Amino acid sequence: MSEQATRTEHDVLVIGAGGAGLRAAIEASARGARVGLVCKSLLGKAHTVMAEGGMAAAMANVDDRDNWRVHFTDTMRGGQYLNNPRMAELHAKEAPDRVRELEAWGAVFDRTRDGRILQRNFGGHRYPRLAHVGDRTGLEMIRTLQDHGIHQGIDIFMECTVTTLLKQGDRVVGAFGYDRERGRFRVFGAGAVVLATGGIGRAYKITSNSWEYTGDGHSLAYHAGADLIDMEFVQFHPTGMVWPPSVRGILVTEGVRGEGGVLRNSQGRRFMFDDIPPLYANQTAKDEEEGWRYVTGDKNANRPPELLTRDHVARCIVREVREGRGSPHGGVFLDIAWIKQRIPNAAEHIRKKLPSMYHQFKELAGVDITQEPMEVGPTTHYVMGGVRVDGDTQMSTVPGLFAAGEVAAGLHGANRLGGNSLSDLVVFGKRAGEHAAAWAKSHGTIAIPDDQVQEAIRSTLAPIDEGGGENPYLVQQDLQELMQEKVGIVRNAAEMSAALDGLAALKARAAKAQATINREYNPSWHTALDLRNLLTVSEAVALSALDRRESRGAHFREDYPDKDVAHGGHNSVIRKAPDGSMQLHREPCPPMTDEQKALVKEMG
Ligand code: FUM
Repeated sequence: MSEQATRTEHDVLVIGAGGAGLRAAIEASARGARVGLVCKSLLGKAHTVMAEGGMAAAMANVDDRDNWRVHFTDTMRGGQYLNNPRMAELHAKEAPDRVRELEAWGAVFDRTRDGRILQRNFGGHRYPRLAHVGDRTGLEMIRTLQDHGIHQGIDIFMECTVTTLLKQGDRVVGAFGYDRERGRFRVFGAGAVVLATGGIGRAYKITSNSWEYTGDGHSLAYHAGADLIDMEFVQFHPTGMVWPPSVRGILVTEGVRGEGGVLRNSQGRRFMFDDIPPLYANQTAKDEEEGWRYVTGDKNANRPPELLTRDHVARCIVREVREGRGSPHGGVFLDIAWIKQRIPNAAEHIRKKLPSMYHQFKELAGVDITQEPMEVGPTTHYVMGGVRVDGDTQMSTVPGLFAAGEVAAGLHGANRLGGNSLSDLVVFGKRAGEHAAAWAKSHGTIAIPDDQVQEAIRSTLAPIDEGGGENPYLVQQDLQELMQEKVGIVRNAAEMSAALDGLAALKARAAKAQATINREYNPSWHTALDLRNLLTVSEAVALSALDRRESRGAHFREDYPDKDVAHGGHNSVIRKAPDGSMQLHREPCPPMTDEQKALVKEMG
């Protein structure tokens, strides 16, 4: 039966071809490794493009008070100190070089009047810090990395889903997958494997993520024995489209607020002024005038409350809707058109700064954002939790298995600051590629055990050969509704316990998911296989969220509304037990060095 799988061998196999995967592949290749790059979709189609507003890097082009120290402390504060401080420091220090590197490789950033890379305001960043290309920064990053990468001799496997990591003893030695269009099998032998598969957004009903983001890398790592940490921290971006229903969840970039957009309820009130968290009290504008001065570059002004962290803004929106002050379709109003009261040629300015948003609303909702407000509401956008990695090398707790980008955890703690994702991808994508290449060189490749391949083939074909009549689309829909309703923005013990029971029932149904029999172009088969990953990551999210009896960052519990300061922060660690069950335990967060502590103190 093993002849049914095409075999290839590389020093480094990268799974996922968004910003982190491409950057890892480029680096490994530049260091002399033979590199294979697998993407579930077509090359270039990645959630990276949904980081629209920019890439955070303390270049100080717009405000010379910025530096890596401020970026480090902003990231730690935004993450409510659950972050891996080593990663936060490396990220803050290396991000500017990664921006300059992208520019050298052809990325065309917006410019300041004197020709430097322009940087804009974003939530939780003390100074204007986001290098950007209008509201298409992620797209420009992918275009640039792709153009650069295709000249590196990397083997690319498009529309291929990896279903299993292959191991020899403790070590990962390759992966098994199938081509989505024809259903042919592939065995990838590799000295090292880098996971760069992105997030888990498709576990929820309302999401900015497209169909690929079913937690594949999280699940592959978990089943291979790696630790996952902090899976309860799911980021609900405050502004997704809410109307019409067919586009619900599509991202509305934070860049709109960075350019002066304000949030209002149905009474026309800027409700964000009603609730300023103490942590940010002395950095937040006291009134509309001060907020506008900040947006237009007054260094002595504080930022408007719309630029508080995403977790807080999302919860304020939920409050307005729940208390009956929402917009007609269950969101609130985001208004950038109002700036015409302040600047001449406002419509032209908006179209120039936010071209994608202008077209998105015009074409999908019939709304001209230069003249009228948008209706927006929270959308599942990102998961802070993921594979536990070494901060320097990005190696997971399984030898030979690396992870970078959204699938890896540590940098963002309990809540990611907007714009820190694009810089994360390239800072740690580069590191993962470098260290995976070094690991592969020193450890070599190992023949793939045939029994594992046979088992992978059997398991992958099970929905076709052994299905029990369950409709995989319905199981997926029920799962998304369950997670949205019971493990969403506002959580409590009763609902999360019910979610865990519901997930157990869905797991039983998913085991009987029935795909139609033709392996070619068969979405029912793909969905049945995706379900396994969605269930694994959903269980990890619900279990960790139930166990964390406090509110912190993106995890908000109405039954425990305060932060548990007395016990300090902990990481929630998820591991597969020998009996196959999912186990959770708590561990203290990695400590800050004395220098890092001094920095946090100094920055207040
Ligand atoms: O709002 C945005 O443009 C998203 C950025 C991000 O998630 O980093």
